[in-house]
Amino acid sequence: MRMSRKMEHVRYALDLGASGRNGLKDIRLVHNCLPDASTDSIALSTRIGDLNLSSPIFINAMTGGAAETEAINRELAVVAREKGLAMAVGSQMSALKNKEVAPSYKIVRKMNPDGIVFANLGSEATVDQAREAVDMLEANALQIHLNVMQELIMPEGDRDFRRALERIAAIVERLAVPVIVKEVGFGIMAEGAAKLKAAGVPIVDVAGSGGTNFAAIENARRASSLDWLNDWGHPTSVALLETLTVYEPGSVIASGGIATSEDIVRALCLGASAVGVAGAFLRVLQMDGTEAALRRADELHDGLKLMMTALGASTVPELWRRPVVVGGETAAWCAARGID
Ligand code: FNR
Repeated sequence: MRMSRKMEHVRYALDLGASGRNGLKDIRLVHNCLPDASTDSIALSTRIGDLNLSSPIFINAMTGGAAETEAINRELAVVAREKGLAMAVGSQMSALKNKEVAPSYKIVRKMNPDGIVFANLGSEATVDQAREAVDMLEANALQIHLNVMQELIMPEGDRDFRRALERIAAIVERLAVPVIVKEVGFGIMAEGAAKLKAAGVPIVDVAGSGGTNFAAIENARRASSLDWLNDWGHPTSVALLETLTVYEPGSVIASGGIATSEDIVRALCLGASAVGVAGAFLRVLQMDGTEAALRRADELHDGLKLMMTALGASTVPELWRRPVVVGGETAAWCAARGID
């Protein structure tokens, strides 16, 4: 029997790994020999739009929709609960169409009744579907993913992307919880961010390249001649700087290939309020188990506190004011696009 599409995504995400080219190495942090800070008084709590999070790190959207994915969501939810991380589920469209798979998503709320949970749908969703997805999880926010290139590479994928922005605007206006619009690893750029802002979207997750690569995943799922699209998209550093020309810090999430404390700090210093980690948590969970994933969350938090102390930033907004030097391809891109 063929594996479900949801499990194929998990399998190929693990097999293909991350390219590591998220551009964040181009962001050089500036050492501070007089930080005037104490590790004990570092506050990791953050705010994105109207959402208060106890950590800037969250588990980004991955899965649900097939029996095998329920175990993954259950264990990720344990990590989220124990370490105070917000967590998104994968696209719930399958559960809206087939109620039998709803438990694979609902497990996330069941395991973590008081945590911050994000529902997830694509931009084809209607207002009613958005409400249903949020109600299914008593979610604190709804993520709407934009994944045009992934759909175009999938033979069974969508081909008509008209009026997506209108549907997003209607959901933003009529949903009771905040909407986060995200990419899936190709990056939100300034032009897209401007349209989203004009549509009233309060929070965006830039989801650039450098980590999970959905062009490569969809090509690997079949003998495809579209491998030439495997480098499509923009690194997370670039997508973040582009989006920050439109959105203020306080409403921007960085994600895409983020797996280390250093990358988290670099993204926060550029102006992100929170950082989404998908593939890196999936990998440690599936390869080494829940205990290892719990330890990884501790390591990320400890590394973040260490770096914040060293830089003299006791809060996330203080990181936004730390100096950084942008070099390499990220600097070249910004110069070509007139981004300061
Ligand atoms: C994803 N991602 C994703 N995103 C989304 O909005 N809805 C979804 O259903 C999924 N499904 C999904 C499955 C699997 C197995 C992975 C690894 C990822 C994309 C994810 O949220 C994120 O945007 C990208 O993976 C880039 O981040 P990382 O993986 O490089 O940290």
